[in-house]
Amino acid sequence: MNGKEAAGKKALEEIQEGMTIGLGTGSTVYFFLKALAEKVAAGFKITGVATSQQTIELAKKWNIPMRALNEVTTIDVTIDGADEVDPDLTGIKGGGGALLYEKMVAKVSTRRVWIVDSSKKVEQLGAFPLPVEVIPFGWKHVEAALSEKGYLPKLRRDSEGHPYVTDAHHYILDLHLHSIADPVLLAIELDHLTGVVEHGLFIGITEKVLVGYPDGHVETM
Ligand code: 5RP
Repeated sequence: MNGKEAAGKKALEEIQEGMTIGLGTGSTVYFFLKALAEKVAAGFKITGVATSQQTIELAKKWNIPMRALNEVTTIDVTIDGADEVDPDLTGIKGGGGALLYEKMVAKVSTRRVWIVDSSKKVEQLGAFPLPVEVIPFGWKHVEAALSEKGYLPKLRRDSEGHPYVTDAHHYILDLHLHSIADPVLLAIELDHLTGVVEHGLFIGITEKVLVGYPDGHVETM
């Protein structure tokens, strides 16, 4: 067992029969989905709402009943991963490119729980490049505005060198900030930049973080 698997399995304790569950994205969520699928196969009834095409495909493969976000009015709990988490439970998300749908699903959820391995715990955010989702139209001007602020943006590319395209058909500029002294101020600034659709700073969005360690134990933050 590794830290991701330990955290993913532990998150099953957050789930009760009949719930509508937001299903995050990534390699830690993979372990949660796998464990959830085993319960579903044994007759446990839940409904999932996916945050990405990648998660839809896994859910389909494992027969997890799904609804689109527009087909539900509320989500009881969302289980998602994160790229960095600080002691205030502020995080960076979007390493897997799903930040927009992840934030939309999180915002309509009653509870939000993140599952991470211990490498994701940091004192200060920013070593992980901050993803900023932008409209493809005129993206170079948004990049220039971010460069002028000293935020060192880099267009995310796929394995063939083409711009990486999100499920919502946008591009991602990763900001190589190294450290973020004031996440709230930065979030406000990015929220007001024309051409930016969303950013990967998740502030005041999660109530609980399950941190898995290589020996299999799980800490709750
Ligand atoms: C995807 C995300 C993921 O939750 C984040 O990148 C963590 O992924 P992993 O569990 O694979 O480390 O935000 O957009």
